[in-house]
Amino acid sequence: MTAINFPGEPRRRGTNLEKWGWIYMRASGVVLLVLIFGHLIVNLMVGEGVKAIDFGFVGGKWADPFWQWWDVTMLWLALIHGANGMRTLVNDYTNPGTTQKVLKGALFAAAAVLIVLGTLVVFTFEPCPAGSPADLLPSFCPAV
Ligand code: HEM
Repeated sequence: MTAINFPGEPRRRGTNLEKWGWIYMRASGVVLLVLIFGHLIVNLMVGEGVKAIDFGFVGGKWADPFWQWWDVTMLWLALIHGANGMRTLVNDYTNPGTTQKVLKGALFAAAAVLIVLGTLVVFTFEPCPAGSPADLLPSFCPAV
C-alpha cells in the first residue's frame, strides 16, 4: 500500500515506493532531456544530418562503447519512465481488480521484453558477421 502521511498523522515507516517512483520520474526526465536531445542533434543535425543515417551509420556508432552506453542508458531510462508513467495513468483511470492487474502486468512485460531485446541488440550488434555471403554484407566490411 502507498504510505501517504495526512496532516496530524504519526509518520509512517518503511520504504515509500510511490515517493521513489515520483522522484524517479523527475530525475530520469532531466537525464532524458540531455540524452534525447544529444541523440537528435548528433543523428539529425551534425555533419550531413538525417541524410547520413543508414546501416553503416548505426554500425559505426555502435562500434564505439560511448554510444553503446548512451543508447542503452536512454533505452532503460525511457522505458522505465514510460512504463511507470503509464502505471500512474492505469492507477488513475481504472479501479483495483483484475483489469488493473492485467494492464499493469502487460506494461511490465512490454518494458521488460524491450529492455532485454534492446540491450542485447546494442551490445551484440555485429555489422560484418564472419562467414556471411558477400552480397549480404554492407560495403564497409573488410571482406567485401
Ligand atoms: C525529454 C524527456 C522527458 C522529460 C523531461 C519527461 C518528464 C516527465 C515528468 C516530469 C513526468 C511526471 C509528470 C507528473 O507526475 O505530473 C513525466 C510523466 C510521464 N512521462 Fe515523461 N519525460 C520525458 C520523456 C518521456 C518518454 C521518452 C516517455 C515514453 C517512453 C515518457 C512517458 C511519460 C508518461 C507516460 C508519463 C505519465 C504521464 C502522466 O502521469 O500523466 N516521457 N515525464
